[in-house]
Amino acid sequence: MDSFEINKIIAAVLLIALIVIGIGKISDVAFHVKKPEKSAYKVEILQNDTISVSNEKKVEEKVDISALLALGNIAHGEKVFKKCAACHLVNKGGENKIGPALYGVIGRKVASKVDYKYSKAMAAYDKNWTFEEMNGYLKKPQSYIKGTKMAFAGLRKEKDRASVILYLNQNSDSPLPLP
Ligand code: HEC
Repeated sequence: MDSFEINKIIAAVLLIALIVIGIGKISDVAFHVKKPEKSAYKVEILQNDTISVSNEKKVEEKVDISALLALGNIAHGEKVFKKCAACHLVNKGGENKIGPALYGVIGRKVASKVDYKYSKAMAAYDKNWTFEEMNGYLKKPQSYIKGTKMAFAGLRKEKDRASVILYLNQNSDSPLPLP
């Protein structure tokens, strides 16, 4: 009888222990459920983002650059350039600041100012600044030239990009003819 009683007590203790652990687990689960939900959500956003980025790139390849440039005008470009002016000078004889001097940049080779220290990514980007290249870069610098040290999110609006490109082109000894 005595050992039966003891067994009962042990059983009761075990049961309580199980219940306590169980509650712990349940609250753990309840607790954790929220966190994964959040990060899962974030991941979703990131995925959507990369998806839209790759979509944008595909669209970008088909950009009708003369139609895009037609959306802009030089006066508006001068205003848009205020966003760039913290880091760039565009006037003739302007020096490098945080970013390279931009006088005559349209048509010149990417990363070709010898007195400016470009990122490896930009130095290795072996192309010229055509209207198309400039449009792609200014839309999303970081994803267009991965590793660029230009800390600028980009110009989402087509009109802004068109205008600033026209403005850059005008600030040159030999502006390129518009396509
Ligand atoms: C926060 C500073 C900053 C802002 C704002 C900024 N840039 Fe830049 N830009 C840089 C830096 C730094 C580089 C050099 C990038 C590298 O070496 O990867 C650069 C490089 C460039 C280049 C390549 C030039 C070359 O010689 O090949 C162009 C073109 C350019 N920027 C245009 C613009 C325009 C247009 C804007 C505004 C819409 C702008 N940037 C805004 C910092 C900036």
